[in-house]
Amino acid sequence: MLDASAVEVHPAIRTNASEAIVSGVPWFDQRGIAVSARGAGILKEGERWYLFGEFKQDHGNAFVGFSCYSSTDLVNWRFENVVLPTQPDGRLGPDRVGERPKVLKCPATGEFVMYMHTDDRGYRDPAVGYATSPTINGVYTFHGPLLHNGEIIKKWDMSAFQDDDGAGYLVTHSGNIFRLADDYRSVVEPVVQDMTPGFESPAIFKREGVYYWLGSGLTGWERNDNTYFTAPSLRGPWKPRGHFAPVGSLTWNSQTTFVLPVAGSEGTTFVYMGDRWAHPRQNTAATYVWQPLHFAEDGTMSLPEFRQSWNLDTLTGRWSEARVAGSLVDIRDYPGVRVEGTWTRHTDSDGHTDLRSAEKGASLTIPFTGTRIGFHAVARPDGGFGRVEIRDAGGDLVLHSIVETYCLYSEASLKFLGPELERGDYSLTVTVLGERFFWQAKTATYGSHGDYVSVQKILLVE
Ligand code: GAL
Repeated sequence: MLDASAVEVHPAIRTNASEAIVSGVPWFDQRGIAVSARGAGILKEGERWYLFGEFKQDHGNAFVGFSCYSSTDLVNWRFENVVLPTQPDGRLGPDRVGERPKVLKCPATGEFVMYMHTDDRGYRDPAVGYATSPTINGVYTFHGPLLHNGEIIKKWDMSAFQDDDGAGYLVTHSGNIFRLADDYRSVVEPVVQDMTPGFESPAIFKREGVYYWLGSGLTGWERNDNTYFTAPSLRGPWKPRGHFAPVGSLTWNSQTTFVLPVAGSEGTTFVYMGDRWAHPRQNTAATYVWQPLHFAEDGTMSLPEFRQSWNLDTLTGRWSEARVAGSLVDIRDYPGVRVEGTWTRHTDSDGHTDLRSAEKGASLTIPFTGTRIGFHAVARPDGGFGRVEIRDAGGDLVLHSIVETYCLYSEASLKFLGPELERGDYSLTVTVLGERFFWQAKTATYGSHGDYVSVQKILLVE
């Protein structure tokens, strides 16, 4: 079991200092370590939100546990624990796959019940499993597959939903909804069956009496344009509503995992939570795309634009625009940059100009004096992984992470934002790893065409 207190935090890192929800950059927990909760879901208990997700590795896809983080503001996350570690054997044993954990609190028993996708490494042995714990932050006891009339539910992508009346539901890929027993430990009834083949990463929420069901297309960890359905009842009829982000944006480069309603004194914000996967660097280079959902009068849901950063007032339930503070300087104009290896200036047909390199080991070192550093980059179909390090004036490592500058279209945005630091002299180094996103699914191969790491603009808070 991991022990959060065992990690030495660099004294320059100021925790709990962030104010905005920032998408597409690694997030850092109270220890300055990347928040690793992929395929996540959230449950609120008391004053805290608990985020459960896949605790990933940077090499290999084997299950290494489900993580739990908690927060009072949905911005600053505290690592709680790996709440369901690899089991000695069985469906979540060594060299297995465990994905998309979702936790419900069972009204009848008061127990916390976690549902997940279990599988073999080749995704040929899918089953929905469950685990329970008397406390929200674990440790959870794994009970094996969730059963319906003694039968295993052989589904993969899944989610869980609790309706207003306390009834619990399991939702799976291809458009299935199953009602859970009162103790949430088995399935009692298929409610919707095979509504739409290939509809993955399901998430359901309810707003003003309407149920919304989101999901992705079937492209493994590659991004696609996700779609949604609505219905007056979980039983349907479910009406296809099409895409909710502009077609071609690939859901702003993300895959649905969950929608979190945040209700306050003035209204409710529905937070779309998506994953920007980065196989095989899923631990540090995958990022979160969390966006406020818009609703038109007729209930049409959308993410009309990508909000790099925004504020959520958890008391009022209202969100507002928020710019990441700091000044932006083009990398070519930034004073004192130390260059190792070959970086070339590149302007693509979309008009994005940056410095980029695919030479393994090539680096850019950016000295700075201030409290926070970040950078914008251009992600392209030939983008790869870069290592990012912040060092203090004495050369000690403050923080490290991996970023990815891959996208199926050319897209310029913030790719790294460090945590708040004590004001001082530091340096930021970006090094080309010579690695790229790739994924081989049953029927297709996805991935980048190159190892390019891009740096476009430096963001500095003095
Ligand atoms: C995706 C799915 C992920 C993961 C991946 C592996 O379609 O949503 O959870 O299973 O495939 O290929």
